[in-house]
Amino acid sequence: AHVVTDACVKCKYTDCVDVCPVDCFREGPNFLVINPDECIDCTLCVAECPVEAIYSEDDVPENMQEYIALNAELSQIWPPIVEKKDPLPEHEKWALVSGKKNQIER
Ligand code: SF4
Ligand code: F3S
Repeated sequence: AHVVTDACVKCKYTDCVDVCPVDCFREGPNFLVINPDECIDCTLCVAECPVEAIYSEDDVPENMQEYIALNAELSQIWPPIVEKKDPLPEHEKWALVSGKKNQIER
C-alpha cells in the first residue's frame, strides 16, 4: 500500500484524493491517511502531493516508519474524502516543519 507521512500534517493539500481510482483516502481534522486494505498501489497520488508526503510502504524513510501503522489505524476511524478542498489555513508555514506526528488531531 501507499502511506501518507509527516509532511501532510497541518497542511492537507488534498490534491491526492482527486486522482485515487479506488477512493481510499480518509480524512482527519489536520491529516489524511490511506486505507492500506483498499490501496491498489497505482502510484498516481505520489506526484500530486505538493509536499511529497506520500510513499510506497516499502520506501517510507526510516524516521517515518510509524506512519505505516498510523495510516492503518486511523483509516479505520476516519471518513472517506473523495474531492479536493482548500488546504488548511496555515499550510505555508507548516509545510516547512517536520516531526509533526504528535500534532495530529484525531
Ligand atoms: Fe489511491 Fe493509487 Fe495512491 Fe493507492 S497509490 S492511495 S490507489 S492513488
Ligand atoms: Fe496531504 Fe499531500 Fe494529500 S499534503 S492531503 S498527502 S496532497
